[in-house]
Amino acid sequence: MTVPADPHRVVLFDTTLRDGEQSPGIALNTAEKLEIAHQLGRLGVDVIEAGFPIASPGDFAAVQAIARADLEGGPVVAALARAQAGDIDRAGEAIRDAAAQGRGRIHTFISTSDIHIEHQMRNTRADVLEGAKAAVAHARSLVGDVEFSPMDATRSDPEFTAQVLQVAIDEGATTINVPDTVGYATPDEYAAFLTRLYALTPGLRDVVLSVHCHDDLGLAVPNTLAGLGAGARQVECAVNGLGERAGNTALEEIIMLLHTRRDLLGYTTGAVTTEIARTSRLVSRLTGYAVQPNKAIVGRNAFSHESGIHQDGVLKDRSTFEIMDPASVGIDDAEQLVLGKHSGRAALKDALEKLGYRLDGQALRQAFDTFKEVADRKKQVTAMDLEALVADELRADADGAAFSLVSYTVEVRSDDRPPHASVVIESPDGGRVSGGFTGDGPVDALFRALDSAVAVDARLREYRVEAVTGGQDALAQVSVVVELGTAGSALRTQLPGVERGERVTGAGQAVDTDTIRASAIAYLRALNAGVAAIAAARPDDAPLTDPGP
Ligand code: KIV
Ligand code: ZN
Repeated sequence: MTVPADPHRVVLFDTTLRDGEQSPGIALNTAEKLEIAHQLGRLGVDVIEAGFPIASPGDFAAVQAIARADLEGGPVVAALARAQAGDIDRAGEAIRDAAAQGRGRIHTFISTSDIHIEHQMRNTRADVLEGAKAAVAHARSLVGDVEFSPMDATRSDPEFTAQVLQVAIDEGATTINVPDTVGYATPDEYAAFLTRLYALTPGLRDVVLSVHCHDDLGLAVPNTLAGLGAGARQVECAVNGLGERAGNTALEEIIMLLHTRRDLLGYTTGAVTTEIARTSRLVSRLTGYAVQPNKAIVGRNAFSHESGIHQDGVLKDRSTFEIMDPASVGIDDAEQLVLGKHSGRAALKDALEKLGYRLDGQALRQAFDTFKEVADRKKQVTAMDLEALVADELRADADGAAFSLVSYTVEVRSDDRPPHASVVIESPDGGRVSGGFTGDGPVDALFRALDSAVAVDARLREYRVEAVTGGQDALAQVSVVVELGTAGSALRTQLPGVERGERVTGAGQAVDTDTIRASAIAYLRALNAGVAAIAAARPDDAPLTDPGP
């Protein structure tokens, strides 16, 4: 990707699938990542950072699948790599198919702050300079589109950072990204830092300058805007502001800020703003990260008016208290779509297409069966329900090679008996195992019965139940995060590389009209995710020589 011809055009770089996936408890499978990538294509982002291929075989497979997919708008697919030959080779291989069409990018990074150099990497500035030079040269030997990031840039010496950037540019970097890795900068300070880098780095005007801001002090969006003011033309962001710790710049916020205040700011993007609400809901469903109700742009209260004065004003003229039309972010579309138990397959297909899902053949048949089951229990099936059900089908597809629920019984507390649950599950080798437990409550008993069937030592970290829509017959969406220990577990004999007694986290979600059933499936999926994370661990337990981003 070269410098855009229009000086006001801002390149949208989405890192939901990389930095966003680094949020604790998020573990998306390839099918889910592909679904998000397709939606990001429809939303019109320019670059999708699809993952960190060296991190695990699963990450590699997902980046490769996205690089091979026919995404709407043909966005660039980027893969992250530390400044090491092995990482860069793996990233290059993962994006090879996109690169063959001129839309593959390697994004390589190395820390430039003395804090990281001394305390984390334990090397020298000279090593960093050499590492950056070799990394960019190697990446350029594989692809024409190379992004370089000096990690922890905003706490780095500007003279040294500029030296590193110039080396990266001389070796062929086409985008230079300046991350505020720890979310420490203030807007004025960030803009001044970028201005200083422009002054100190002669080649910086010949490449795209990018900003990547974290929200530790709630300044990710203001810092991103300040970066644009200083000359950056690529913004790195994530849907719903997901990302490491407090997250990244929220994609929907920066898009709508530039769109709504174009009169003042003058920037343009390629975003199809009406896809924003759908993208936010999809990401929230698949990650299990709920959107806070008062979140800008995509929170459920973002366009609702509570006070009488506001309601009165909006009824007379929406512009009295609304600076954006809800339809401009796609909120109205979803509300209009309603199906019932007499709706046929064609109506379902059409509704799904309106929601951005193109299902045919077996996938459509399966979706139709699920829809009929739900429509029998629920009077109206809304767009939100359909989205939740389709997201659940994606998860069910991924369950193929893992433990799956065969049956369960849960007895609630009665006068003479504490709550008890028993379960039967099918294990990956096709055999059946059962478990039972008497717990503090029915959900506790159910989860512990599943632990005993899978033979793991698991601790429940998060358990959330949300109603997909309002109403008594609403679908329940359950999210579970477990921490899994392998010490003393029977899994040690079943899986390679689990002797270490480490703990991993696994997340799972499920949707059903029955909350208990959704809880059982979500919990089992979380156990499966934890087990898969252990199985995917490097056989030699070799730590990555440098920590990841
Ligand atoms: O925050 C950060 O510094 C990063 C880099 C890998 C760009 O995510
Ligand atoms: Zn980051």
